[in-house]
Amino acid sequence: MLAKDIRQKYIDFFVRYHNHKEIPSASLLPENDPTVLFTTAGMHPLVPYLMGEKHPLGTRLVDCQKCVRTDDIEEVGDATHCTFFEMLGNWSLGDYFKDGAIKMSMEFLTSKEKGLGLDKKMLAVTCFRGDENAPKDEESAQIWRSLGIDEKRIAFLPKKDNWWGPAGQTGPCGPDTEMFYWTGEGEAPEIYDSENKLWVEIWNDVFMQYNKKADGSFEQLKQKNVDTGLGLERVTAILQGRKTHYETELFSEAMNKINELKNVSDIKFERIIADHIRSAVFILGDEKGVTPSNTDQGYILRRLIRRGIRCGRKIGINGNFTHKIAEIFIKIYEEIYNELRKNKDFILEQLVLEEERFEKTLEQGEKEFTKIAEKLKENNQNILSGRMAFKLYDTYGFPLEMTKDLASENNLKMDEDGFNEAYKKHQELSRKGAEQKFSGGLSDHSEETTKLHTATHLLQASLRKVLGEHVYQRGSNITAERLRFDFSHPEKISDDEIKKVEDLVNSAINQKLPVSVSEMSVEEAKRAGALGVFEAKYGEKVKVYTIGKSDTDFFSKEICGGPHVKNTSELGGFKILKEEASSAGVRRIKGVVIWD
Ligand code: ALA
Repeated sequence: MLAKDIRQKYIDFFVRYHNHKEIPSASLLPENDPTVLFTTAGMHPLVPYLMGEKHPLGTRLVDCQKCVRTDDIEEVGDATHCTFFEMLGNWSLGDYFKDGAIKMSMEFLTSKEKGLGLDKKMLAVTCFRGDENAPKDEESAQIWRSLGIDEKRIAFLPKKDNWWGPAGQTGPCGPDTEMFYWTGEGEAPEIYDSENKLWVEIWNDVFMQYNKKADGSFEQLKQKNVDTGLGLERVTAILQGRKTHYETELFSEAMNKINELKNVSDIKFERIIADHIRSAVFILGDEKGVTPSNTDQGYILRRLIRRGIRCGRKIGINGNFTHKIAEIFIKIYEEIYNELRKNKDFILEQLVLEEERFEKTLEQGEKEFTKIAEKLKENNQNILSGRMAFKLYDTYGFPLEMTKDLASENNLKMDEDGFNEAYKKHQELSRKGAEQKFSGGLSDHSEETTKLHTATHLLQASLRKVLGEHVYQRGSNITAERLRFDFSHPEKISDDEIKKVEDLVNSAINQKLPVSVSEMSVEEAKRAGALGVFEAKYGEKVKVYTIGKSDTDFFSKEICGGPHVKNTSELGGFKILKEEASSAGVRRIKGVVIWD
């Protein structure tokens, strides 16, 4: 079975046999969710619905979501880890729970006709062991037993293994039950052993019934949800009897190309190149588009590309090559992910540019290194300090191994502990940065973020009235303290225009306009004059939020998942704090709402 068949089979299974509605993959860049840089799982776009908002397509959904996870970046190169992957998932929004989810999982895994036809004897499962936050999940284990999974193949594990979420610091989460497939030779061992890496996790059913609060405590959610995740790459490899996804049709062509370009063999580096370039293709090609930079998503993108290039150099690939690998991935995925076809030129051009920039930085870094080395020699020293090594890493993108190589070529020793210390300190700082991102946003549905979210709609409408209809949202990030709104506009906005925009938002607040929501098809929404955010893909039905006196006499109308305030008067007032450039052709406004 090819990956494309598995994708289709999964969606069909839940749509045809179990009454689910298909939703398209959301963007890799989470909209209005400041808790994460990338969509790391299917739940991000669905958080409001897991918290209890009504989804326009009902309570049973199925999707194939593009995901990027870089926490395990160091593991990439082994048989199973990917930085980009596709996650197949079925969702119950307060509909079925453990019994339904587990039975469907088992049916899909083992049914020859409707599912993957895997052998039950090769499966093992794990369930939550229980702790102070939630009881032992005996119920799931009982369901597995009733489906013929042997007691010895059921393990109860602690939270670090059998609990999923929240994706940020707060939000929906719960115990999970995970399914493993034996990938070793011959029959699977009688007893499941969680330490044996030949048992590969293929699917995870999460029973999201808790909301983790900012103080670390858990409360019951309004409804019991199911969120499942089946990694397409892994399952494809298993079904094709391959040891790793790099040997499947998703990767084989790219691996062959790398093989052709290289001078020295090193399977780990070859895999890293393929993995990282594939991720870069999806990030650059995303509906919302990101370019390499030194902050946020742009920084991760830069790291992926540069790490790919470095691995290329290690195996003797010289000259620009990442675009050659990227072209292969675009060809493989463009049918499913149209945005890659549309953004092909952009993706390739950005890769070439980044490769050229990196080349220059490396040159500068090497010069810097030579200077440092000469100085040390002048002073009769032979130790390169950790601080220096870290500077080379941080400013010039020098990986530690490279600095080590250069040091030994120059008869210098490197203070690795010092480097690690500087590195740790830097990581703590970036973690703090990330935590600040986690500090609010729609995932917590606080009163503040809801107000700011409504203010964002008023702001977009006002900007369009003052500056013109070319203004479109390009990004939005809300914390409990402020909103940040990026939009298309070619030039700086004058003080006079800012004042006009602010006044317009405040006049909408003072008019005490009601905020209403209705559900309709995307076509109907467009006809009704609703703004769609970006060129996002929507499901068959969407929610449209209208701010104004009536459906036809309105101040703002947008396709949006919510939540929002009921009346603009709840906002009190609005103030723009700052207007600045965000990227080429995109301006950024930071603003706050004022209330007593
Ligand atoms: N959200 C769950 C996961 O990522 C399904 O494993």
